[in-house]
Amino acid sequence: MLKRRDFLRATLVTAGALVVPACGRDPEIINPLDAEPERELTDGSAYFPQSIASGDPRPGSVVLWARVQDGEEDLDLEVEVATDAGFTQRVALDAGQAKVKALARHDHCVKVKVRGLSAGAVYYYRFVYVKGDTGYVSRVGRTKTAPAEEADVKVRFAYVSCQDYIGRFYNPYLALAREELDFFVHLGDYIYETTGDPSFQNTDGRRVVFTDAAGAIALGEGDTAFHAARSLSNYRELYRTYRSDASLQKVHESFPMIATWDDHEFSNDAFGATATYFDDRKDETDVERRKAASQAWFEYQPVDYGDDVEQDPGASLPDNFRIYRDFVFGQHVHLVMTDLRSYRPDHLIPEGAFPGTVVLDHGKLGAELGDVPELAMPYVNDIETYADGIYASALKGAAEAAGYDAAEVTGKISVLAINQIVAGVNEGLPGDMQIPLIDAAESNFFDRGIAYVDLGKFSAHGAIGARYLTIKDTFDIYAAIRYKETQGASEDMMGAEQESWFLDTMEGSKATWKVWGNELCLLPLAVDLGPYSVPEQFKRRFIMNADTWDGFPSKRNELLERLAEVGGVVAITGDIHAFYAGTAGVSGDPSKKIVEFVGGAVSSASFREMLLSQLAGDPVLSAVPGATLLAAGIDGLLTSTATKVNPHLAHANSYAHGYVVIEASGEELVADMRSIDAAEALTDHAENGDALEVGSERFRTLRGESEIYRDVRGAWKRWDPATQKWI
Ligand SMILES: [Fe+2]
Repeated sequence: MLKRRDFLRATLVTAGALVVPACGRDPEIINPLDAEPERELTDGSAYFPQSIASGDPRPGSVVLWARVQDGEEDLDLEVEVATDAGFTQRVALDAGQAKVKALARHDHCVKVKVRGLSAGAVYYYRFVYVKGDTGYVSRVGRTKTAPAEEADVKVRFAYVSCQDYIGRFYNPYLALAREELDFFVHLGDYIYETTGDPSFQNTDGRRVVFTDAAGAIALGEGDTAFHAARSLSNYRELYRTYRSDASLQKVHESFPMIATWDDHEFSNDAFGATATYFDDRKDETDVERRKAASQAWFEYQPVDYGDDVEQDPGASLPDNFRIYRDFVFGQHVHLVMTDLRSYRPDHLIPEGAFPGTVVLDHGKLGAELGDVPELAMPYVNDIETYADGIYASALKGAAEAAGYDAAEVTGKISVLAINQIVAGVNEGLPGDMQIPLIDAAESNFFDRGIAYVDLGKFSAHGAIGARYLTIKDTFDIYAAIRYKETQGASEDMMGAEQESWFLDTMEGSKATWKVWGNELCLLPLAVDLGPYSVPEQFKRRFIMNADTWDGFPSKRNELLERLAEVGGVVAITGDIHAFYAGTAGVSGDPSKKIVEFVGGAVSSASFREMLLSQLAGDPVLSAVPGATLLAAGIDGLLTSTATKVNPHLAHANSYAHGYVVIEASGEELVADMRSIDAAEALTDHAENGDALEVGSERFRTLRGESEIYRDVRGAWKRWDPATQKWI
């Protein structure tokens, strides 16, 4: 083992003149060869199994993170920051920053916010675990502060999302670590809370097994049983495991991260403290679980904790804990990070809704829309008395068997739902006991309205027709009326406080580009099955995912009106496991729009894979002939020039992993979509990362416009929504 002095000499790369950046308050540089006590130093990376990380860079500060592992006691750490990788030019730190305690009660995670740094400068940092006379040194991390607000500099960063670890590998990070970046943004799903959900996770490969199995939620049955994190121990174990990945560590050691969370940092398709595993079979609100998830996130992520808390990340989780925040990178980039999970309401269509229940009747539609729209469907006015109650008793029995509350079979019930249920009941009845279906000619005289089945809810207690694959035209009417009735509460995605902060920040920004770090796809994504040979009931326009902004269309419209006015707003987005480029516009006035670039998942099952498994898992949709073939060709459906259902969608790749690199200057913002075939995620390419094929598709938008251009063999072509062509 070397003495510290010798160690520093041994790692000394150059003792040349210190390069001090021109702007910002210069940090005090000390010469470590004169200042340090004698201590034995040795490689201690084994004590830092999650390595180190940095995050939340600002012009004068950055947050450094480490976790040290050595028994149950609180442990002593020292922090070293230098302007060179050899640590010959060290930054003088305050005593409170230079020596910190890794507290057992925070899983020995430590965060240090280093202040007084120069703007736009690269720093190197490492942690020393002090044990007796020996200092065990972590790996060296490289980080970079933000440029000064007035600096006229190009900003280059990457963004990522969705890094499922179960059976999958982080190959895109091999490529990302080689990029030249100022920082990277994580848009959520940094962890997945389940240990092997067979509906989307690959349970053959690497996995997580919770030590505290009793503290977790048991899901699935038999061969496909798995757990979802519930206790603090469960969530911490996920971060420990995910962060043990060498490719992910390499990225953290190379760049500071700015992170927000999406649902899986807590629970799939969550809202507030409520999970959705049981699709309304029970109340899944669990405040303690939400707190555990938030605390582990906060302990393990190098996010800023405000100025009032030092070196005690868990203690900084007050009840009003908030993660939405913004960052300025010189004159051209203002990054505004939102939290679209903590404050939002439940999805508009309950997973447990009885398909036959009429939600907008004849009178309501007439009053709200002036007329009953063509797409409204006939319903029976009082199921209890209609046809002497024969349908009521058949429906109640079938509803109960399907897991509904029979009490829901009351009042106005959709004829379509009645006939579907009765057809099912008839299958089990002898010929002479068959219940006649309600005749179409007869029901033409009935009142018409919109029932859950008309919104796409075809079966009991499931996500399809509630959170996924809802029928767009009826859903948009329903959402708009609910929005009005609830004074906006039904779609209050951000919560009032965040929303006013968000709009104030966007509207007050002086930066060329206001980049919205947005978790959920803004671009409307619908498919129109009208022209395809599917049963009549499916010849509709479907929203792919109502857990995203498509499920909150009125609020989206309202925000887009304001953001289009601001100008220079670009949304960068994850969540959906696909690469999309396009413009999100105000419905009815598509000239009011903003540009959005959606980046693919790092490793999670691609959007196309997810769609195929959703179909396979749904009792009704899996039986629709041709459904699988249609889903496999999802990009063709999304960008179809025949149906023109998404003319704003300029690019779609629903079967790739990767990340996006953004380069923003005073004139343009370029997005380079770096993609890897989704099938590669099942192979660990760490040993041959250089051989990995990484695609590049470049898009840009120009100052003063909200148009999208694509690099077509060296020439920039503009997307023309009217012809759906690059011209
Ligand atoms: Fe995800």
